[in-house]
Amino acid sequence: MRRNYLKNILKGSEEMYLTDEEKDILSGARGEAAKLAMETLIKIGEINGAEKFVPIKNVHLVLHAYKSAFDAGVETAEKIAQMGGRFCVPVTIDPYGMDAEDWRGAKTPEHYARQQMRLEDAVMKMGVIPNWTCTPYYGFTAPRMGEHLAWSESSAVAYANTACGARTNRQTAIVDIFCGIVGRAPYTGLHLDENRKGQVLINLHIDRPLETWEYPALGYLLGQKLGARIGVVDGMKGSPDSEDLKNFCGAAAAAGSVALMHIVGVTPEAPEREAAFGGNEPEETIDVTEEDIRNTRKAMCSNTTDKVDFVALGCPHYTINEIVRVHKLLAGREINHDTAFWIYANSYALRLAEKMGIRQDLEKLRVVIRAETCMIISPVKDWGFRTMMTDSGKCSYYGPAECGTEMIFASVEECVESAVSGKLEIFK
Ligand code: F3S
Repeated sequence: MRRNYLKNILKGSEEMYLTDEEKDILSGARGEAAKLAMETLIKIGEINGAEKFVPIKNVHLVLHAYKSAFDAGVETAEKIAQMGGRFCVPVTIDPYGMDAEDWRGAKTPEHYARQQMRLEDAVMKMGVIPNWTCTPYYGFTAPRMGEHLAWSESSAVAYANTACGARTNRQTAIVDIFCGIVGRAPYTGLHLDENRKGQVLINLHIDRPLETWEYPALGYLLGQKLGARIGVVDGMKGSPDSEDLKNFCGAAAAAGSVALMHIVGVTPEAPEREAAFGGNEPEETIDVTEEDIRNTRKAMCSNTTDKVDFVALGCPHYTINEIVRVHKLLAGREINHDTAFWIYANSYALRLAEKMGIRQDLEKLRVVIRAETCMIISPVKDWGFRTMMTDSGKCSYYGPAECGTEMIFASVEECVESAVSGKLEIFK
């Protein structure tokens, strides 16, 4: 994408081919909002060297939380809705910007709550499906190999491309809304075969399946090393769970700008190393050892105290499997009275946890479990937590700035033990 961008700046961008239907939309036949969407997407497409549009199956929005949308985002969404902007493909959305079940109890400022609700009204008017999760791939829009999508949530983009072989660029807020209104995206970047070839070889020298905590640590390490380049991970042993890939992709997309990584034997387009490179020679080779992952884990921590006052899990949103694991690890033990223990999940997982009686059990043990929001995109700073502990690579990247805490990245087992004792419990 960047190569095309530079090429087109230098030569002057060329006009995109438009179908008759697209010309009609551009002329205003489907209303002012669709016209504006088409005009904007054509500009973006031409700058990025797109020759045409590609029809998309669905869209996932990131204009979802007042914390990141600010007043300008709220007003823009309202404006597009007032202009008649309506989605023509299924459009889902990232987590809600506050605890919808109990926003007052979650110390949400009144102004913040009002703006969050205005944003919600605007996207609902456009026809969003309010799933409020960063893991849309576990729902009715689960991506399939080769499908074209327009998703914006970085962890979900990386998952859709890497784990499912679907095709989406990292869209931005507003552009994703426009794609949903016209049902198309510029045919550029990761929609094209030639831009999906591996660029960097990553040789993993670990002769055993990775442990659960090592996936986000590896993702974090590779995100930092790759930036926006496409890595090919060779040598991963065993068969990672879907949750492992979720946590790996979330960390890689946060610590770098990773939108696609080929994991040989896992990514559908990468049955073996050669297929992942598609005839390219690797421009760089990176060797990763067990020690590199341990060092990354240390670098992900910034704590200056052993006291743990906040444990936050579920970034990206926890699945039912992950909730069940925490339930088993706690084994009826109560969380320390000076420690907050919060779990964020998607609503399917929470519903299942309720049906299984697990949510009720966990809440008796002082675990707060919420769907449809998260620690990073809701206003957590006012709680005044000093040290946050998490099993998430993405949360450990954003937590210090967004939650105003020192950070400890650890395994879920260590997070649970620390929440029970109230101080850092690290297993050797
Ligand atoms: Fe999801 Fe919030 Fe993390 S949106 S990926 S839980 S920052």
